[in-house]
Amino acid sequence: MIQFIDVYKIYENGTNALKNLNLTINDGDFVFVRGASGAGKSTLIKLLMHEETVSAGEVIVNGFKMSEMKHNDVPILRRTMGVVFQDFRLIPNMTVYDNVAFAMRVIGARSSEIRRRVPYILGLVGLARKARCRPSELSGGEQQRVSLARALVNNPSLIIADEPTGNVDPEMSIEIMELLDEINRRGTTIVMVTHDATLVERYDYHRVITIESGNVAQDIPGSNQ
Ligand SMILES: Nc1ncnc2c1ncn2[C@@H]1O[C@H](COP(=O)(O)OP(=O)(O)OP(=O)(O)O)[C@@H](O)[C@H]1O
Ligand SMILES: [Mg+2]
Repeated sequence: MIQFIDVYKIYENGTNALKNLNLTINDGDFVFVRGASGAGKSTLIKLLMHEETVSAGEVIVNGFKMSEMKHNDVPILRRTMGVVFQDFRLIPNMTVYDNVAFAMRVIGARSSEIRRRVPYILGLVGLARKARCRPSELSGGEQQRVSLARALVNNPSLIIADEPTGNVDPEMSIEIMELLDEINRRGTTIVMVTHDATLVERYDYHRVITIESGNVAQDIPGSNQ
């Protein structure tokens, strides 16, 4: 479960990114997060993975209280989640295969498991033929799908995706959504930031949270929740 309790986030330069935000997301939910540019969506995600800390309030993720996190707890928390970053964050000098394999190596997966799993996941996101490329040799949409593959590869209980369809064509958007939907049906919690109104409309059985000026402006429950 994810809980934001009276959360404020003020960045060092004085920007008030989140203001008294309250939000609960249950295990197994699929939630769209929408909102204008600058509304606070990525800030929300950075708090979830303990990349930023709150100025006031509390964030609880998968049983971890963010205010009580010790340095050593951070990698343990992050093992429970797969994150697709808005800016991809791929390792430039590693191939596509190694970018994905690396996520498995850091959690101590066996080589045989890595050799089996990475090609399977790259196939799922339609990148089997790009395994040997480096990120600089890929299109924006392809890099985005490597980022998605890396988020999925360890089978996390929570997937947080910041605009995972922001750089792909409408057809590929649907494919990515179908993939995330299928993963959600198997029990994984999904929090997906998107600007794509057409996508949200098409998948209107999911909960839709709208963030406005650092607060929840609207929260429409999904029909399957
Ligand atoms: N590191 C930072 N330091 C200072 N201000 C920041 C920082 N990161 C974000 N902000 C500010 O906080 C507010 C929320 O930013 P955030 O990145 O969460 O928006 P967003 O909803 O993800 O927008 P977008 O749709 O453009 O990605 C904005 O006003 C932004 O300028
Ligand atoms: Mg953002």
